[in-house]
Amino acid sequence: MRILSGIQPSGALHLGNYFGMMQKMIDYQEQEELFCFIANYHAQTSLSDGKTLATGTLEAAASFLALGLDPEKSIFWVQSDLPEVQELAWLLSNFTPMGLLERCHSYKDKVAQGIKPNHGLFAYPVLMAADILLFQSEKVPVGKDQKQHLEVARDIAIKFNNEYGEVFTLPEPEIDNDVATVPGLDGRKMSKSYGNTIDLFQNDKALRKQVMRIVTDPTPVEEAKNPDNCNLFQIYSLFLDSEGREELRQRYLTPGLRYGDVKQELFEKMRDFFAPFRERREELLAKPDQLREILDFGAEKARRVAFKTMRKVRKKTGLSY
Ligand code: ADP
Ligand code: TRP
Repeated sequence: MRILSGIQPSGALHLGNYFGMMQKMIDYQEQEELFCFIANYHAQTSLSDGKTLATGTLEAAASFLALGLDPEKSIFWVQSDLPEVQELAWLLSNFTPMGLLERCHSYKDKVAQGIKPNHGLFAYPVLMAADILLFQSEKVPVGKDQKQHLEVARDIAIKFNNEYGEVFTLPEPEIDNDVATVPGLDGRKMSKSYGNTIDLFQNDKALRKQVMRIVTDPTPVEEAKNPDNCNLFQIYSLFLDSEGREELRQRYLTPGLRYGDVKQELFEKMRDFFAPFRERREELLAKPDQLREILDFGAEKARRVAFKTMRKVRKKTGLSY
């Protein structure tokens, strides 16, 4: 099965990114044909500073590799290293009714938040469709917020195929309901746009500070606590097996538990869990030339697949003459 997904390099990676997307992709590389990329073109819809984008792109790539993505087992590249995707986006835009894009929630939400409604933001789903269709992806793991973009990709592929024959594989979204949304410090979905994240790669002091900011209820120490509506419990559970989770649950149900102690334990657990990844990431970032080589290698593999699609598409549409 060919699986593809991408992540934008538009800020520090957090627990939601790791447990919601990255860990799953890393697991897939063992069994499936995995395509994974850093969506730096997409990040330009929210980021205009070139230096920040370039640094963020290298950091996101180093992070993914440090967390276990294997460039030999998967195809891992930076989106802009294959500008072919832009040609496909243009071709697909001729099969994209305006109404389809006008209905997109994510566009409407961003405009409602005050982001300027430019063409890049509007055409974002067409570029995303090109990412997916260029590699004939069969399955695309995404968060709930991206579900509609997958529908757009399918609609565009169907329209194109109706005109030119079976050129594109129709992608299926994979929206994993088991991967519950990771809550943030304040209990809302962890998201960089809410400023409620616990970031994966930061020094101990900053990490401890974020963990200590997790909001808990005011139940006094001497009373039993309810684990089921506690986001500290939920976040801690991400690092526990079912036995550990049950043990923690029992501690909640027994009077005397101090949230501060649980936070300190969680901090130590997270620190130890991510320490080897942090070290590996530093090593990768210390040698940017080697990192670029890894990314070039990935882009080369991706290009071979993209080339096959584009040869067909250019022929069908009359661009090759
Ligand atoms: P953010 O909300 O911080 O901007 P992104 O939208 O860039 O995060 O998310 C990138 C990937 O990480 C997506 O696949 C998304 O589904 C996943 N993800 C982000 N936040 C969470 C979360 N709180 N819980 C589960 N998955 C998440
Ligand atoms: N839009 C996705 C997000 O913000 C990132 C992305 C870009 C993507 N192209 C993609 C995801 C193609 C899956 C497939 O999370």
